Amino acid sequence: MSARRGLWITLEGGDGAGKTTQATLLEQWLRDRGRTVVRTREPGGTDVGALVRDIVLHHRGDIAPRAEALLYAADRAHHVASVVRPALERGDVVIQDRYLDSSVAYQGAGRVLDAGEVRDLSLWAAEGALPDVTVLLDLDPALARRRLDAADKPFDRLEVEKAEFHERVRAAFLDLAAAEPGRFLVLDAARPVDDLAAAIRARVRSALSAEHAPASAPEPS
Ligand code: TYD
Repeated sequence: MSARRGLWITLEGGDGAGKTTQATLLEQWLRDRGRTVVRTREPGGTDVGALVRDIVLHHRGDIAPRAEALLYAADRAHHVASVVRPALERGDVVIQDRYLDSSVAYQGAGRVLDAGEVRDLSLWAAEGALPDVTVLLDLDPALARRRLDAADKPFDRLEVEKAEFHERVRAAFLDLAAAEPGRFLVLDAARPVDDLAAAIRARVRSALSAEHAPASAPEPS
């Protein structure tokens, strides 16, 4: 990947964890500080991605697990190449709803494909690109389900999966976070919205100051 100047933040977690609410609050805070923000998502952050999103979320009938993994990876390849990378090269902040950790959690643990293979597939698709900060909004799937029921929207193909599927997805996200503590910020998504927003801002503030810090300390004269 060529030189990156911006900051890339992804939000992850089960369905109903509150990613959209937090992305909106973070976007506003960054804009108030004069940053140019690109708000995007997977699947569906591009015109091609919108077609893929329609298949993976709304296709009636089964999709073979490997085909599903490849569809998400195809969406990702086009999204990183045409939206994320150009934005980072311009120096923008990218706030992205879901990235490859979702593939490892949903297609890996959820659909029982090999997690390492799913990750490698995504890394190939994205030419190895990884976010600077990944916020994991961790929530008990039973509580998430109550939130989704209250929202009264039709469920997509992943949301209708059984409780046990969502338990596996949650455990996989927590394992990913434990393996990469430098990239992940894990938050209990049952906490009040404002507390979560403050914790995310604190992490992003320090990432932004690191972005502006000199690469190495100047030599003493
Ligand atoms: P999301 O956009 O969060 O759904 P909504 O618009 O309903 O809030 O995510 C859509 C679904 O796609 C979600 O159930 C998780 C799933 N998904 C995967 O299974 N693998 C992936 O790689 C990605 C990015 C999403």
